[in-house]
Amino acid sequence: MSLDTAPRLDADALLDDPQTRIVVCCGAGGVGKTTTAAALGVRAAERGRRVVVLTIDPAKRLAQSMGIDALDNSPRQVEGIEGPGELYAMMLDMKRTFDEIVEAHAEGDRARAILENPFYQSLSAGFAGTQEYMAMEKLGQLRARDSWDLIIVDTPPSRSALDFLDAPKRLGSFLDGRFIRLLTAPAKAGGRAGMKFLNVGMSMMTGTLGKLLGASLLRDVQTFVAAMDTLFGGFRTRAEATYRLLQAPGTAFLVVATPERDALREAAYFVERLEADRMPLAGLVLNRVHESGAAQLSAERALAAAETLDERGVDDAGSGAKSAGAAGTDTASTGGTDTADTTGGTGGTDSTGTEGAAALLRLHAERMQVLAHERRTRDRFAALHPEVPVTQVTALPGDVHDLAGLRDVAELLTAQEAPGA
Ligand SMILES: Nc1ncnc2c1ncn2[C@@H]1O[C@H](COP(=O)(O)OP(=O)(O)O)[C@@H](O)[C@H]1O
Ligand SMILES: [Mg+2]
Repeated sequence: MSLDTAPRLDADALLDDPQTRIVVCCGAGGVGKTTTAAALGVRAAERGRRVVVLTIDPAKRLAQSMGIDALDNSPRQVEGIEGPGELYAMMLDMKRTFDEIVEAHAEGDRARAILENPFYQSLSAGFAGTQEYMAMEKLGQLRARDSWDLIIVDTPPSRSALDFLDAPKRLGSFLDGRFIRLLTAPAKAGGRAGMKFLNVGMSMMTGTLGKLLGASLLRDVQTFVAAMDTLFGGFRTRAEATYRLLQAPGTAFLVVATPERDALREAAYFVERLEADRMPLAGLVLNRVHESGAAQLSAERALAAAETLDERGVDDAGSGAKSAGAAGTDTASTGGTDTADTTGGTGGTDSTGTEGAAALLRLHAERMQVLAHERRTRDRFAALHPEVPVTQVTALPGDVHDLAGLRDVAELLTAQEAPGA
């Protein structure tokens, strides 16, 4: 099973389908999730949909070009869309999203007590999984507003793509965990007679903790936890609702990967996880694929030709005869190792030309080896998951940091011909 026989992902059909309401771009770090999400957003808007893209960590120049470099945690319309639709974009401000939840679900003083609590501050600023959790939370909010007909979600730069799906549960179990309950108990148990016995244990316990942590720090933990306690039921419920949203028809996952072993292994795990969780996978985006305009010249032949040129260079240097300059390309294109050249020297000194040609052939050989390696890696993925539709985006010469670059990526993403085919 090779990639060439894998079904082709029709990304335009996916974007055009009015039933498609959410597209989630997942994958390992640095593979092009943010770029893909933004490119699909531009594409869908220019084809007529009203789209919002939730980006997580856009590169600064990309954010600037979309007009979302000011962090205000709400979608802004992107200028310069050429077509009937509209594009809104935002980047997730994790801490702000967390604060908004507290403000929405706790009243006045209580909200302030939480927001000012140092434990809340460190939790909201980057507890493992909070970014993923907040991305989900934001997605839920955007969907609830119902102002867009398509929401495209980028996912956080986690080491593992699975973190995005695991985070709500992990945060939930942290908030629900024994440590937290232990700490909450003294704060909650005050009035309850039945808790008296427990309370004695607890105050001893908190006494010890108080010595360890310092009394005021402990009070902070307790206030925080008691306050969160009223909230986390809500966290749970919403996380579960968003999780169900991800399973609903109308949601499509795109797994993004580069043709490298680790990224594709990650993609394979993710595909399996989506299947297990009954979440709809639309396909695989293979990004930053290398190709060559001279793929007909194999690495082996290019190297052989380079060697021939080297030998000739040495011979020529010895005999004083210079003849290899033009022959170099001949040798390469016939792929032969035939070094016979009887035309004799013209007396010119083109040994630098010969060296240059040999160096170029070696570079070409290196590139062909990269291509072959990428192909083997891709084929391995295709063999594991032959059912997954694939689209490929070639590695562009520069970074993608403006609408024109995003259009180029989108063009490749949605092309129905494999690059180089
Ligand atoms: N097809 C491509 N060709 C060239 N550069 C790309 C391509 N896709 C992404 N990039 C660049 O790679 C870098 C990482 O992409 P990004 O979308 O931020 O990855 P992720 O969100 O997965 O971490 C960015 O600098 C981006 O411009
Ligand atoms: Mg990113």
